[in-house]
Amino acid sequence: MSGKIAYVILGATGNQGSHVVKYLYSCSIKDIYVVTRDVNNPRSKQFEQVMFMGRRDEDVCGVLGFAHKSQVFPGVKVIAGDLENKSSLVEAFKTPMKDNESYKVVVFAMSTPSLASNGYAISAEVEEQSGRIIVEAAEEAKVTHIVYSSVANCDKENRPKYHRSKKNIEDCLKASKNSWTILRPVSFYETWARFSKVKSGCMTGLVKPDVKQQWVSLHDLGASAATVLRKYEQYKARTIDLVADELSGNEMAEKLTQIRKQETFRYSIAWFMRLLLWVAAHDIYEERVTFPEKEGGYKANKQDLLELSKTFSEEEFKRKGLVNFERVVMLNGWHQGPLASSWGIGDYAIYGLGFLGACFATMAYLLPESVWTEIKKRWAFYGLMLLFVLNLLIRVAGLLRKKDK
Ligand SMILES: NC(=O)c1ccc[n+]([C@@H]2O[C@H](COP(=O)([O-])OP(=O)(O)OC[C@H]3O[C@@H](n4cnc5c(N)ncnc54)[C@H](OP(=O)(O)O)[C@@H]3O)[C@@H](O)[C@H]2O)c1
Repeated sequence: MSGKIAYVILGATGNQGSHVVKYLYSCSIKDIYVVTRDVNNPRSKQFEQVMFMGRRDEDVCGVLGFAHKSQVFPGVKVIAGDLENKSSLVEAFKTPMKDNESYKVVVFAMSTPSLASNGYAISAEVEEQSGRIIVEAAEEAKVTHIVYSSVANCDKENRPKYHRSKKNIEDCLKASKNSWTILRPVSFYETWARFSKVKSGCMTGLVKPDVKQQWVSLHDLGASAATVLRKYEQYKARTIDLVADELSGNEMAEKLTQIRKQETFRYSIAWFMRLLLWVAAHDIYEERVTFPEKEGGYKANKQDLLELSKTFSEEEFKRKGLVNFERVVMLNGWHQGPLASSWGIGDYAIYGLGFLGACFATMAYLLPESVWTEIKKRWAFYGLMLLFVLNLLIRVAGLLRKKDK
């Protein structure tokens, strides 16, 4: 039996999987099969053409020194498979063997709590179930090795709900007949960059300014997974923490000040987002706020990724060092040029007036008709409403002007 390996990547249209494919491809590997629920949906079609949605690939290549500079990935095969349907996954895992029966199949697996059957609502139980399906399907299809992306220290006490589900999947994988490696990333820089804006003179985050958090980039997850997938024999039955940086919000602001030199940055809490999570998505609030603030966060082992990254330079994606905060700043283009202006009076006014509007609506609902009629007679009520409408018009005009430019 030849040693030819086919790589099957789950979640390849998402954040983690797309980076794994990119890094495998950069190692000149073409025997890649990506699994999606719907091979005809635009994201899957887009797959073979554009990776790293939102960032031009030359920028990424410039910062990270990729050998493969194209956005097109000819040869990557898109196949159907559903994490909630075992037989479809068994089929997906066996597909490479149909193309070439001597293939050994090595799988990259991830799990997510937001699956379709759940109407995309987030559920740890649904995630755990899909994890078990992946493990069983891999066993049934007799895959050679499986690399599962979990989360750091999920087996410790007091972990958030979506860490405990990953711990149960890890246990299931370890108890199975599969040969395995587990990668355990901490918080992704990219998730922070998406939700916490960096603007002129200020940056935001969900936690208090002095709370240190551990970070890793999807690029290092991709590079690590590609390395482990290719050299899986060296990494059998190993659990590898992925953490590149440990920084508080204040430290990030300090670093950004050093990078941009002319501008001083301060870190502030994104109160609105924090409140929104607390009200509407309490599990995520616990993971993103309570866990780092009260439980001390991931506490992952920094040596693991440092050790693993020493072998990165042998690969096609030659680069020294990890994707740290400075590189994340460059990847996002925050190191030069003008940044969007930070919150002005207009932003405060619009949210303030929105809040007042909500108060009025609540009052209209709760107060007796007679009292509410009295309020409506006051000029302040109409004055506020007029300001609110004016503010909205100004902001819409601003947006249209920006679009014209
Ligand atoms: N954000 C962080 O800081 C962080 C840190 C550590 C770990 N994590 C973990 O990372 C995971 C999310 O990973 P991600 O961000 O890469 O996910 P993502 O971008 O949301 O992508 C989800 C992927 O899963 C696939 N998928 C969803 N339902 C599927 C199904 N029923 N069958 C087959 N494929 C399905 C989707 O493929 P199709 O739509 O094409 O089918 C898509 O490729 C979560 O478990 C989270 O806890 C996140």
